[in-house]
Amino acid sequence: MSAPHLAAARPTTPGTELGTPATDVPPGTVPAGPGVEHAVGRLEDIPMGEGRAFVAGGVPVAVFRLRDGSLHATQAACPHAGGPLADGQTDVDVLVCPLHLYAYRWSDGAATSGAAPLRLFPVREHDGELLVTV
Ligand code: FES
Repeated sequence: MSAPHLAAARPTTPGTELGTPATDVPPGTVPAGPGVEHAVGRLEDIPMGEGRAFVAGGVPVAVFRLRDGSLHATQAACPHAGGPLADGQTDVDVLVCPLHLYAYRWSDGAATSGAAPLRLFPVREHDGELLVTV
């Protein structure tokens, strides 16, 4: 686990797509609308296998860098009772909230317990920048 840190979104580097609608939404992602991509930090801000808290366009998010190299982004607060999801334990399949240990699938955000699902956000890396669409 790690201590969360917050980083304000900042403009993307030249050539990125800040302000453009998201077009390639990964399976399981539940976008709130057309979405806008925001640079939230650097890939190296997140140790392999861990998550960190950021703010993307005013939306608190938790971004995870999994050991298989994939990136995932979700809401920062657990839908159960607001637990800090960036401090959760994860593998390539699930994220476990540190507060009450509910598990959520990365594939679709569903809770394995049947609780309310996570909201997932598209995330990618470009030139070392983490780009989250909210
Ligand atoms: S706050 Fe996350 S499982 Fe309860």
